[in-house]
Formats: sequence, structure tokens, C-alpha cells
Amino acid sequence: MSVGRPLPHDAARLHVTGQARYVDDIPTPANCLHLAFGLSDTARGVITHADLSDVRQSPGVVDVLTAIDLPHANDVSPSVHDEPLLAQGEVFYHGQPIFLVVATTHLAARKAARKAKITIDPRPAILTIDEAMEADSRFEGGPVIWSRGNAADAIETAPHTLSGSFEMGGQEHFYLEGQAALAIPQEAGDMLVHSSTQHPTEIQHKVAEALGVPMHGIRVETRRMGGGFGGKESQGNALAVACAVAALRTGRPCKMRYDRDDDMVITGKRHDFRITYRAGVDDEGRVLGLEVTQLARCGWSQDLSLPVADRAMLHADNAYHLPAVKIESHRLKTNTASATAFRGFGGPQGVLGIERILDHIAAARGLDPVQVRRANFYRDGQTTHYGQTIEGFHVPAMTDALLARADYAARRAGVDRFNAENPVLKKGLAYSPVKFGISFTLTHLNQAGALVHVYADGSIRMNHGGTEMGQGLFLKVAQVAARSFGVPIEAVRITATDTAKVPNTSATAASSGSDLNGMAVQEACLTIRDRMAEHIAGLWQCGTKDISFEDGMLHGPNGKTISFADAAASAYEARVSLSATGFYKTPGINWDRAKGQGRPFLYFAHGVALTEVIIDTLTGENRILRTDILHDAGSSLNPAIDIGQVEGGYVQGAGWLTTEELVWDDKGRLRTHAPSTYKIPACSDRPRVFNVDLWDQPNLENTVFRSKAVGEPPLMLGISAWLALADAVSACGDGYHDLNAPATAEEILDAIERVRAG
Ligand code: MTE
Ligand code: MOS
Repeated sequence: MSVGRPLPHDAARLHVTGQARYVDDIPTPANCLHLAFGLSDTARGVITHADLSDVRQSPGVVDVLTAIDLPHANDVSPSVHDEPLLAQGEVFYHGQPIFLVVATTHLAARKAARKAKITIDPRPAILTIDEAMEADSRFEGGPVIWSRGNAADAIETAPHTLSGSFEMGGQEHFYLEGQAALAIPQEAGDMLVHSSTQHPTEIQHKVAEALGVPMHGIRVETRRMGGGFGGKESQGNALAVACAVAALRTGRPCKMRYDRDDDMVITGKRHDFRITYRAGVDDEGRVLGLEVTQLARCGWSQDLSLPVADRAMLHADNAYHLPAVKIESHRLKTNTASATAFRGFGGPQGVLGIERILDHIAAARGLDPVQVRRANFYRDGQTTHYGQTIEGFHVPAMTDALLARADYAARRAGVDRFNAENPVLKKGLAYSPVKFGISFTLTHLNQAGALVHVYADGSIRMNHGGTEMGQGLFLKVAQVAARSFGVPIEAVRITATDTAKVPNTSATAASSGSDLNGMAVQEACLTIRDRMAEHIAGLWQCGTKDISFEDGMLHGPNGKTISFADAAASAYEARVSLSATGFYKTPGINWDRAKGQGRPFLYFAHGVALTEVIIDTLTGENRILRTDILHDAGSSLNPAIDIGQVEGGYVQGAGWLTTEELVWDDKGRLRTHAPSTYKIPACSDRPRVFNVDLWDQPNLENTVFRSKAVGEPPLMLGISAWLALADAVSACGDGYHDLNAPATAEEILDAIERVRAG
């Protein structure tokens, strides 16, 4: 029984001993060249003069390319072809690649790139949300608006109304392994590309476009990433295309990896948002009408901003029934790095929005924040604002269980007592739930393929379109394969993702990796299993259905058994095919993006969290004292991996909303481009007490062994940490806090002053 077991990550030992191979660890082929980009030092302008002679003469330089040197398409956009690999006469953000240096070493390429003399005639740059709104600088023209009922009327006629506005920052992915690619020319113009990517097929597609060849000439391989978090859905395109172009020109292998500073400056981050709202509520704090405006800073190119902003709108309800609601979304085009996918893909911004609104309602009405949330929870049978029916909604029951086991009532009283007695240190306690929709909103992406081989000795090699970024996908899917054949997990070999083995794959994203690839692999395994069963049933003179696969054996009637290995050998000799593909497409989903109506998600994953914090009101410093979480992973394929995802997701979400601050100056330069200035959570920042349990209920939908996706949803549980900090800030004065995110020590200090001033 391999499914449901808490097996350790298949590469855990390799990770901690430094043996796990990432792109930069692949032994460099002889003759390999190294690449670096020359970057724009201006947020927006026209290139009037470019003198690259010093770059060309720099030691070790073999080649220097600008846009005119590219053989075919100059585009690395994953969506609307608006993202040139190298700038064409104009630059649109500080850090945009302008030229490409090809040199004998990484350092030589980097040093040479600094020697360019480029003159850029600056044009007025649109940097902030305010500037973009003023200039009407948007993707898609006007705002996107989805609504249900008449929110304005419902607000006017409600007993109480309130309104507000707040900001939330973006987030740097800070994957430990930076972006990297290695292209190795093959015979007849073919290209092999190793890429640190969540989306090998997209790399294949963009490289094929750039070289002007069909996709069959390009093979992309990805063994693993040292973290992706959404930052490697599209942001690896530039490196892979640059390597392939340079490899074609020079006939030599080409490798590129960004230095950390370059990585942070060049690549996109989470979208920062401003959310404004107006709500009408009843005496219990129930929302009767709500208007929400989401202003998203998307950066200079479209990238994935449209679906990200859509998902923010789709999660503007989180766990709550909004009878009359209007959501307005502005996708703002600015001269900053192009914001991209980041764990939750817009969902976190939408969820933080409604959580902050309910927090405000509770404060304004003098109600307990948990009570206000309970009053607004969905009930099964209700529909979301986009028309999807709520079924199997676990949040209310999970909330009861969490608050009981975490002793909420007593601890709430304890925190209030502590705050009454302590003028300098203040505590905060807050609860928040998450309901997260699972499926790509672009319906056709919800498909996956697999290729499984059983060798004549009974060993199994498994391949699918998903990629491994530390989340444990390969192990979970291997568990599915082992279970299908009734063999121990050791019998299944995990292999690199390879576009030559499984074609036309979707990004490993939207948390759907195990849902999609698990099903595809299961189908392939069952095809082979049925062939083996039919063969053995012939030998045993029994029905195929009488044969079961368990404990590494095939079992038949009258105690007949044969080992899986012997059965494979026997099938091989009888000329039975032991290789099969599998394919899966998510059933039952549909989505009309223009109307904002349909059933975009197969199901929802749920979670609840309670966080206690303490702040120092003299310095703004703070700590998470305790966090309790219950999370819904359906019937978990691997509880150890899933709990790891919940813990990591929570800490990453808390980091987003506390210490991780991105600062651009008035020239559009990112000033926080290294770990010295951008602070991700360290081990010491994790909650002092951290109780994480899974809510063990099978998925109502027919997913792989009734499991649920788990990669992104728990990130949003980190919102409880921000709400707890806000609670502590509120304890410093009488009014409602106006804390923004991230709640850095400085922001907390400022917010304390504001709340004290009333
Ligand atoms: N966990 C680790 N360790 N590293 C990662 O890069 N990415 C997250 C999540 N968990 C990530 C992670 C994101 S953004 C997604 S969409 C999912 O994993 C993708 O994998 P899955 O679909 O297999 O859950
Ligand atoms: Mo995750 S943001 O869907 O890669």
C-alpha cells in the first residue's frame, strides 16, 4: 500500500547531501560558452546610441548579440507576443535585457556586459498604481467587471455601511536555485535544452519560434527545480531562448544562469494590489452588499497578468457568501518588471481583500472577528458570485475543530488580559480560513499525459508531463504507479520531465500537478496491468478479473501466485506490450471568462488557521508565537509531503505579509535586489509552536484516490499572521488599525502611531 503513506521525498537525501543535480550541476560540456544580459539602466526611454565595442573586446568574449542579430522571433512572452528577448529600440523597465554577451566563462560574460556605452533618451515612466490610473494605462482597455445582484442598492439599504482602502505588496519568489538553462546543439540543427522550468513545453515552443524550426527539433528536459513557486512558469523562457540562439550561432553548448541580483531585477514577482471597498452589513456583520475594486500592478508586459487578475476576482469571496457583489479589476500597465505567477496566482490578493474587509466589519460593529466570519460562511447548495455551486464545504466544521483544539476562547481572553497589563508588548490572535478553487481557469490546460514502461525484470520507469520543484509531485505520482501495480515504491523509477516522452504538457501549476499527472499515470499503469492480467489469466485458465496485484505478486484463484517480475518476463516472452501512454482531462468544468460565469473549478480545497503573535510597540519587532492549522488535502496521497506543503505554504504566506518588502525608487529601480535588503523568513521566523494537521475527508470529486491539490492553498493561511499583527496593533489604541501589507517592523510602528492618534 504505497498510496496514503508518509514516505519521505524521493530526493530528500540528495538535497541535503548536495548530490541532487540542478541545471548548473550538469557537468559542463567541452567548449561550453556562458551568457549574460546587458540591462537597461532606465525605466522607460528610447535607445539613441549603443556602443558595444568595449564589450566585444572584453577578455573571453566570443559573440555579442542585439535584437537585429536574432535569427527569427524576438519574443519570450507566454501570452501575447509583447515581450522581446532583447529590447528593440525602446526600453520599458529598469533591468530590461538589451544585449546578450557570449563568453568563455560566466564571469567574463558578466564583466563584459558592464562595459557597454548605451545612451537612452528617457521618457516619462509610469511606475505606481496612482500614475497608471491617472494615465489610463491598462491591459485590456477598461476594467473587468463581474457582478451578482445590485450591490449598490444592497449597500444603500443596509443597516450599516463602511468603506476603506489598503495596499498589499508584491513578493519575490526567492527560489533557492536561480533561473538557469543549458542548450546543447545536436545534429541537423536540433537542440537539446536543459531548463529550470515549471513548463518544459513552453520552453520548447518559445525556442522553436526563436530558431524558426518545428517543435519536433527541440527537446527540453527538466529533472528538477530548486523551487519555482510560479516564478518558473514563464520567466525561464528568456534564458532558454538566449542559450538556444547562441548555441545555434556558435555551434557550441551555451549556458546561462542569472546572478541573484540580476534574477531579482529582471524577473517578475507577485502582483502588488490596492483594494478599495464599500460594504453594507446587518447587525450580525453579515455582508448584504459589497463593492470591491482591485488595482493590480502588472508591469510592462502582459505575461500571465490576465489570468492572475481573474483569479483574484474569483477569490474575492474566499469562504463567504456575498449575495450582492460587484468586483472591478484594473490590470495596470507600468514600467516595472512584469509581475507574474506566484503561489496562489492572484488568489491570495483576493482572499486578503475579503479577510481584511470582514476584519474591518468586526471592528466597526464591535463583534468578534470569528463570529463575523461564521455569520458569512457559505452553506452547501449556495452559489459563488460566478455561479459555481458550493458542495462539500468543510470550513465551518474545520473551524469548530480548530478553535476547540487550539483553545480559542481561553486564549482570546488571555491575550486581552495580557494587553491590558502590558504597555510595551502587545499580543494579537487571529483566525482565517481559505477556500481555493482547483483547476486552471483556462479550461484547455486541464489535461495531462504519461508514459509508463514495465521492463522484463519487473522494474518500472515512469514519465509524465509534471515537473518537480520540491513539492513532492514525482513521489506522489510514483506512489500511484506502485499502487496500481501492487509493487513496492522502490520498483518505480522516477525520471526527468522530457518533452520527447510526453508532449503538449501544461505548466506544473495551479496546484494541479498530482491531480492531472496522477490520473494520467494511473491510466497508463492500468492499461499495462490489464494486458498482464489477460496474459496470466490465459496461463491460469481463469478470468482476468480474478487476478489481483498486491505485495509484488499477482494472485489468482486457488492460491495461485506469480511474482510481478516473473509475470512481466512471461508477458514479454508472449509478445505482450509492456509500455503504455495515459491521458487525463478534467471533467465537468466550463468557464465563460467574458461573463465571469460558469464552473471554472472541479472542486475547492479548504484550510483554517489560528495565529498568535507578539509585537514590541517601541520597535515594531514581532514574532509568531503559535500557529494551529487544519488543512484539507482530501484523502492525502502522502501526508508527510502534504504537511510539508502546508507548513511551507503558511510560512511563505506569512513572509509575503510581514518581512518581504519590495522597494522601487522614483527612477523605477528595484532597491531590494539581494538577501541583504529583501528579507525572506528564516528558520527562526517560523512559529514557535506550529501544530499542523490534515482534515482527513475524501474528495467528493473522483480525483486520484480521492486526494486534493495542496500546493498553493495553505499559502493563504499566512493571512492569519497578518491579521494577528493587526489585532496587536489595534490593541494599542481605540480605533480600527489601518495596517498595510507587508507589516514590516516600520509599518507596524507607523500603524501604532496612527491608531493611537485615532
Ligand atoms: N513547493 C515547493 N517545495 N517548491 C515550489 O516551488 N511551488 C508551489 C507549490 N508548492 C512550490 C511548492 C506552486 S506555485 C504550485 S502551483 C505547486 O506547488 C505546483 O505543484 P503541484 O501542482 O504538484 O502541487
Ligand atoms: Mo503556481 S503560482 O500555479 O506555479
